[in-house]
Amino acid sequence: MNILILGSGGREHAMAWKISQSQNLSNLYIAPGNAGTAELGENIPIGVNDFKEIKKVVLSKNIELVLVGPEDPLVNGIHDFFLQDTELSNVPVIGPQKMAATLEGSKEFAKEFMMRHNIPTARYKSFTAETVEDGFRFLEELSAPYVLKADGLAAGKGVVILNDLQQAKDELKAMLVDQKFGTASTTVVIEEFLDGIELSVFVLTDGEHYKVLPTAKDYKRIGEGDTGLNTGGMGAISPVPFADEVFMDKIEERIVKPTVEGLKMDNLPYKGFIFIGLIKVGDDPKVIEYNVRMGDPETEVVLPRIQNDFIELLKTVAAGTLNDVDLKIDERSATTVMTVSGGYPGSYEKGKEISGIESITDSIVFHAGTTLKEGKVVTNGGRVMAITSYGDNFKDALKLSYQNVEKLDFDGINYRKDIGFDL
Ligand code: AMP
Ligand code: GLY
Repeated sequence: MNILILGSGGREHAMAWKISQSQNLSNLYIAPGNAGTAELGENIPIGVNDFKEIKKVVLSKNIELVLVGPEDPLVNGIHDFFLQDTELSNVPVIGPQKMAATLEGSKEFAKEFMMRHNIPTARYKSFTAETVEDGFRFLEELSAPYVLKADGLAAGKGVVILNDLQQAKDELKAMLVDQKFGTASTTVVIEEFLDGIELSVFVLTDGEHYKVLPTAKDYKRIGEGDTGLNTGGMGAISPVPFADEVFMDKIEERIVKPTVEGLKMDNLPYKGFIFIGLIKVGDDPKVIEYNVRMGDPETEVVLPRIQNDFIELLKTVAAGTLNDVDLKIDERSATTVMTVSGGYPGSYEKGKEISGIESITDSIVFHAGTTLKEGKVVTNGGRVMAITSYGDNFKDALKLSYQNVEKLDFDGINYRKDIGFDL
């Protein structure tokens, strides 16, 4: 089969790595890809939202399945674009259609979906510039900390948590009236703060059936001890040790089943990955967000634990026969440690030569922000490379990831030395 992956991060390199192991692969293309994916297939330098160029590639390379990595093209309707085009409509796209992708594209839509289907989540209300005064009053009813969420996509920056009531009111005004996040904050969701430990659950669905994939926990803050600014993710662990069978049963019964059923009931066609961000409050799971794609760097620990042929798996999603699959999961733990550019998540320089990659033999190196320059691998983003290892438990796996991270070098290299510290 000829496959096209859209995206350029560590998630897409991990997907390319998994697909490369399939007996079913003929040619693999990644658009735009990175220096890591270039070793597994052909990178095509086009943007993930450039649907016209994507169409040309699909037709000229005889692509038979498109796997969408990031949320942007999904929220922009790439799946619908394929279905509506007579030349493309028979090419399966893995990723939900536009309406269903609104689960990630609009926090308010996601909240209303959860309310409709009795899915446990934080109590909330949403506000616009016209109702900003009501928003102030709602904040007064809540107690600190205050959670404010821009409704739309805001590049991961749209959630603000504040301890001070006045600051929360000022922030609400900045978001709604001063359009701090542009149109993404035309509507703001204010919700109750959930106190607990976070984890993520990944579900693959063909719209009718589902499989719960391995759990993972990522570390979003730049600083050790979960301090400092939010990043895309600095490391991840799978499975999550506290997600035992009892807890996973609760997640499946209270959250996964009603989510998949809810999508059907609401007529929201969904063939793809659902990423459910959860907080364990006491002994109960509550949803903090849906993403309509896999996580990054969670993919770098989830896919290495799936033993099934990945193309076979994706084909059953396209065909609606996912229930025929017997999912096989590696019992070992997998961990990943993300190396990042100096200054990230603030401003940072690109184009730094990366050394030591070849000396890593007992971990998997997933490229995130890298590119090839004059035959050399250089940095090309904030998150640069994720080093994934297996172990009998997460501590052993982490030890190996850290031993191998030490072998990598580039000007300004930074990484968190405490992944898993809270477990
Ligand atoms: P999100 O963009 O929805 O993933 O939110 C970013 C981060 O904010 C999450 O990973 C949580 O750490 C935190 N967060 C979001 N909603 C809540 C909430 N209701 N209570 C506590 N923390 C939250
Ligand atoms: N690592 C978090 C995300 O992919 O959204």
